[in-house]
Amino acid sequence: MGANGWFETVAEAQRRAKKRLPPSVYSALLAGSEAGASYDDNTRAFAELGFAPHVAGLSAKRETGTRVLGQDISLPVVISPTGVQAVHPDGEVAVARAAAARGTAIGLSSFASKPVEEVVAANPQTFFQMYWMNGKDSMAARMQRARDAGAVGLIVTLDWSFSHGRDWGSPSIPERLDLRTMARFAPEVLRRPRWLRDFARSGQIPDLTTPNLVEGDGSGGPAPTFFGAYGQWMTSEPPSWEDVAWMVQEWGGPFLLKGVCRVDDALRAVDAGATGISVSNHGGNNLDGTPAPIRVLPSIARAVGDQADVLLDGGVRRGSDVVKAVALGAKAVMIGRAYLWGLAANGQAGVENVLDVLRGGIDSALLGLGHSSIHDLTPDDVLVPTGFTRELGVPRTA
Ligand SMILES: Cc1cc2nc3c(=O)[nH]c(=O)nc-3n(C[C@H](O)[C@H](O)[C@H](O)COP(=O)(O)O)c2cc1C
Repeated sequence: MGANGWFETVAEAQRRAKKRLPPSVYSALLAGSEAGASYDDNTRAFAELGFAPHVAGLSAKRETGTRVLGQDISLPVVISPTGVQAVHPDGEVAVARAAAARGTAIGLSSFASKPVEEVVAANPQTFFQMYWMNGKDSMAARMQRARDAGAVGLIVTLDWSFSHGRDWGSPSIPERLDLRTMARFAPEVLRRPRWLRDFARSGQIPDLTTPNLVEGDGSGGPAPTFFGAYGQWMTSEPPSWEDVAWMVQEWGGPFLLKGVCRVDDALRAVDAGATGISVSNHGGNNLDGTPAPIRVLPSIARAVGDQADVLLDGGVRRGSDVVKAVALGAKAVMIGRAYLWGLAANGQAGVENVLDVLRGGIDSALLGLGHSSIHDLTPDDVLVPTGFTRELGVPRTA
């Protein structure tokens, strides 16, 4: 770690986040579900892939810019939506500023702690993320609010399966962080004085409410608490493919379906009108045993072709991971924990730091592979071991 707080890898950001955050907040970020098989596979799978580098005739200049969901971004890395909650007082606004400073887009969770209006003001390249909750009227009203705020795309996440147990234990997260609960959490909070000091300086206590889930245009009524909103979501009837097509129509702009793992679902998403999909297992927080997205990406990318932007999220910790995903068919990746750890470690500068680490790693891999642009990457650049890939939902021919 440099004197100014700069860190050289995402692993170092994670170590700093762990030192800085109260254990229950750190543990909530780590997430994962059940045995953590999907969580582990997400990073292990990237490590199983190798490269086929050149030694001469390399390119002195490397281009990393691309276009995703109609947005020009300076590197193929987008901020994935997460409920940042109690990580940092500036939360998603700091993340949005960092992404804007580094020329990329942000996905803002419906469960975020900052209102979409503030986040769009910090980064006009904001995609608003929704879950299917509370029926069509409520969905339409929330889409309208996001549209009015200036969100340039919609991310709909449909892979959540409400799996709550994990073998290594779940943190107890309070409903509201008022002074009484702070007192109850005092022993662990007092062991993390810098985290507390940051919140004290900002004049707020961590907000565990969800301002983007206020009914109507967002102006009336108190924001539901995280758990109140979660309960509403859990008891909402799951959507059909017709509902997905309805959401695409209702939004009427760039639309990313997040959480796709199967070829048949990817094709149905395209049929429903989605302009993008993210191949994802929700960072392994979900139905444990779902393979790492990088294993299912090649078959999905082949099937979808250029009918939609194919993104990937899950397990990205290095620029070389980004390069592997792009070589195997992704237009860009989204990152979750990497930037949350950066945010916890050093606020906005920490998120910029993570994006710089990734950009540096992308550049270095492109140099080694002899390419002048990320658009030149092909599967031949990557060593894919036998038995690495998985194909889900591919019609079997006898
Ligand atoms: C703490 C945490 C909260 C998350 N909250 C959301 C969310 O509100 N909406 C969503 O679509 N995905 C959410 N995700 C999933 C991320 O968008 C993303 O799919 C995942 O983090 C990618 O894996 P990675 O963390 O290995 O990069 C969350 C992930 C984490 C770790």
